[in-house]
Amino acid sequence: MNSQTTITVIVPTFNEAPNVAALVARVASALHDRSAEILFVDDSTDDTPDVIRAIANTATIPVRLIHRDNPVGGLSGAVLAGLEASTSDWCVVMDGDLQHPPEVIPTLLAAGADENADIVIASRYVRGGSSDGLSSVARRLVSNSSNILTRAMFPIKLRNCTDPMTGFFAVARESLDLAALRPRGFKILLEILARTSLVVAEVPFAFGDRNAGESKASITQGFRFLTQLGALRFGRLSGFAAIGALGAIANLLIMGGLQSVGVWYVVAAIIAGFVTIVANFLLQEHFVFHDLRAEGRNVWLRFGSSLAFNGGETLVRTFLLFLIVENTTIPGVIAQAALLAVGFVVRFLFHSRVVYRPRRTAATGFEAYDVEIADEVPASGA
Ligand code: GDD
Ligand code: MN
Repeated sequence: MNSQTTITVIVPTFNEAPNVAALVARVASALHDRSAEILFVDDSTDDTPDVIRAIANTATIPVRLIHRDNPVGGLSGAVLAGLEASTSDWCVVMDGDLQHPPEVIPTLLAAGADENADIVIASRYVRGGSSDGLSSVARRLVSNSSNILTRAMFPIKLRNCTDPMTGFFAVARESLDLAALRPRGFKILLEILARTSLVVAEVPFAFGDRNAGESKASITQGFRFLTQLGALRFGRLSGFAAIGALGAIANLLIMGGLQSVGVWYVVAAIIAGFVTIVANFLLQEHFVFHDLRAEGRNVWLRFGSSLAFNGGETLVRTFLLFLIVENTTIPGVIAQAALLAVGFVVRFLFHSRVVYRPRRTAATGFEAYDVEIADEVPASGA
């Protein structure tokens, strides 16, 4: 390693032999006027390490290789190992299959310096970016919905990040506490952003097609991602669920109580509904979204949108229940349970992304940063 190296480009690789030469050439040319190195962190089971060593001998940029015989933490673990092995001021993390264009690296570094950022994220979802390289409609759908869910669960930490799932970013090494990270699966950036308070900047990029070889994304990675989300932020969602459950019980008690003193069941249901919606709102304000109350809308707007959502959700859900029961053989209680479950998720998303939505505190300069394509996808859906 060169003692003056100020940039380390960390590339996690798993069986990427046919992509190494083109990647090294393009990174070298993008960073020809800097003191930079490429650090491959390789878990391959094929000849990728040999290919890397051969190319390192002729490359115009220093190329280092860490081959892990006993890989832990998958892709995220590899990135962490790279960060630990670097002494540069800035580390750039990117995939080894050229879906992340090396030509964007200077833009990432420039934005970091211009905006005094700790981390600069290459985003597919700011104006000028695109995710066309996602291979199928299904992958795109999974990517978009996990993006919405993740940002709903970390509204503050991700307020300036439109693409927490990207694997392409530049980070000022000293801003990270590597010991605090618990890498698992594919989403190291989410781990970093959720556990650290960093000044975030973004630049757009076009997620390209894989150059050669095969993607290592899988259903297993999808489940790992969900557990990661749960582990990072179980608090908000579980609190929301607990209060919702309490509200349902209170609803039934109030309704039963009113009926027992002779109130007509429809009127009793309306009163019980209204009382629990108001009580729910107050409890959510105090216990679940307390850290977000100072953000965004005032209390009456929050209350109004919450009330409107809950009322609308009840109407839509009841109508769907009617359709299902009248047109299928599915029992009403089963249908209602499924609809309540869907309603719960949508309600949580709506409250996180709309009612308690924090303002962006984004850096100045690049006007593209203010546009969030992902947010144009309606968060409520009801
Ligand atoms: N060292 C190591 N160990 N590298 C790995 C491992 C592993 O277990 N698994 C995958 N990689 C490497 C691949 O060789 C590639 O360089 C990079 O990580 C990304 O893997 P791909 O198989 O190309 O995944 P992808 O294209 O589906 O996912 C990429 O795009 C996602 C956004 O949609 C990755 O960048 C993800 O991080 C990103 O979230
Ligand atoms: Mn890829």
